[in-house]
Amino acid sequence: MSSKTAVIIGVGAQRGLGATLCRRFARVGLHVVVAGRTAAKLAAVADEIGAAGGSATAVEADTTAEPAVIDLFDRAEAIGPVDLAVYNAGNNMPGDLLTMEAEYFERCWRVGCFGGFLFGREAARRMKPRGRGTILFTGASASLRGRPYFAAFTAAKGGLRNFAQSMAREFGPQGIHVAHVVVDGGIAGDRIEKGLPDFATAMGEDGLIDLDGIADLYELLYRQPRTAWSHEIDVRTFKEKF
Ligand SMILES: NC(=O)c1ccc[n+]([C@@H]2O[C@H](COP(=O)([O-])OP(=O)(O)OC[C@H]3O[C@@H](n4cnc5c(N)ncnc54)[C@H](OP(=O)(O)O)[C@@H]3O)[C@@H](O)[C@H]2O)c1
Repeated sequence: MSSKTAVIIGVGAQRGLGATLCRRFARVGLHVVVAGRTAAKLAAVADEIGAAGGSATAVEADTTAEPAVIDLFDRAEAIGPVDLAVYNAGNNMPGDLLTMEAEYFERCWRVGCFGGFLFGREAARRMKPRGRGTILFTGASASLRGRPYFAAFTAAKGGLRNFAQSMAREFGPQGIHVAHVVVDGGIAGDRIEKGLPDFATAMGEDGLIDLDGIADLYELLYRQPRTAWSHEIDVRTFKEKF
């Protein structure tokens, strides 16, 4: 195989953003390396892509483990040059600050920020010699502002956003497009609809952000010519107060 590859980490439920992005970029024609923590979920996404005529490989990788991230990119490059890398892993971990354990804060930061550094660095190492490639990071409302009880999550997401800016300014002039997507509100996927059904109900009709609508933005960023790049795009429903 020698088709261009997309490495997408943070893939879980079929109705989640990671899986939606995998399906989208398989349709775009990339070989998708479907990466995350849970083998069964990854296999389901890769199998679905294969059944629809696309090509995908499932790779188990914890994005907070340096050897795993290096191995992930080595495996992807063995399939074909990595042209797109998407950092979608995230763990919204609310908590009261006065009782928050240090380990809890650090775990949130490892997935939300440190993993983005490992992933972004490995992507840039592969793309730099070719002078091309796209690296996209998934953000949230917490990327832009701290709210009560979200101190750990907002520290991680804010750090990831600044990291993405730094990467964009370092690698943009070398032909690598780095961008950050602010997902400003709940997503209409399994995490909210199954995990927080009361919240989903309270948001009402069209109160959660459409998965395919978000994927449209990632595809737009990937397709932008280097004479017209965006670094950051936000997305929310018509109902969202911001
Ligand atoms: N859901 C929302 O309402 C919402 C709103 C705003 C922003 N976001 C952002 O969107 C992204 C995720 O979207 P989603 O909620 O639809 O979830 P998703 O894309 O369906 O799943 C994210 C996956 O990340 C995986 N993951 C967690 N820690 C990891 C690690 N250390 N290494 C590798 N993979 C890891 C989880 O794996 P397991 O399945 O094994 O746990 C999970 O399946 C996150 O960056 C999140 O902050 C979500």
